Amino acid sequence: MNSMYIVANWKMNGDQIFNSHLITTIEKNSVINDASHMIICPSMPYLQQINTQKPSYMILGAQNISQYDNGAYTGEISAPMYSSVGVNHIVIGHSERREYFAESDALLAEKVNAVLANNSTPIFCCGEPLAIREAETQNAFVENQLINSLFHLSSEQLLKVVIAYEPIWAIGTGKTASSAQAQEIHAFIRSVLAIKYGADIADQISILYGGSVKAANAVELFSQPDVDGGLVGGASLIATEFTAIINALQ
Ligand code: 13P
Repeated sequence: MNSMYIVANWKMNGDQIFNSHLITTIEKNSVINDASHMIICPSMPYLQQINTQKPSYMILGAQNISQYDNGAYTGEISAPMYSSVGVNHIVIGHSERREYFAESDALLAEKVNAVLANNSTPIFCCGEPLAIREAETQNAFVENQLINSLFHLSSEQLLKVVIAYEPIWAIGTGKTASSAQAQEIHAFIRSVLAIKYGADIADQISILYGGSVKAANAVELFSQPDVDGGLVGGASLIATEFTAIINALQ
């Protein structure tokens, strides 16, 4: 059985006052407070602030990581460093990292390895740009991302990975994949995992949907059999929206 997750990706947003208010309001209004699968990924300077303030059922996560554990890599943060401040869930390969910071599939494979070697959880992002969707070649595109960055893993390692499918054309655009489109490609992703690792393993992997998830579409998206929760950007910064998304897991 796979687990449901809601991951808040705050991206490069927030400040101490805003963050504090957001966490307090989410805590006050969430009906789910014991699922242990609400992961908040603030900007790195605010990890300690959120860690101190958050209730225990909120899990702290990070938006990016170095593939190295330590050394002369100015500006980078490693998996052991994150762990030491209570961060054991790391988003890897977000399309903004791939697009604006030229992160390749090969580099992302190294980052996945670094996170797993530290016994932390990679939240591995995949998803196609608009031109690929319009050409109807999204399945092959996403399959390649999975093959190139995950398929070197053993079954045991893969079981520790959470996958997030985020079609780039739906990120921050207000244009959500329909629940049928999400279900179709999530089922495809699971089938690709099943061919490589077996259905038993594939069924245990959580596959989240991301891309303009909001209160208005969360219930329908999360009710799809292969959608195991969401990776939420813009709506995770609005307390009423985010609590409604969390509550949609019920
Ligand atoms: P939006 O929810 O703002 O579309 O962003 C999705 C995303 O990129 C989450 O990682």
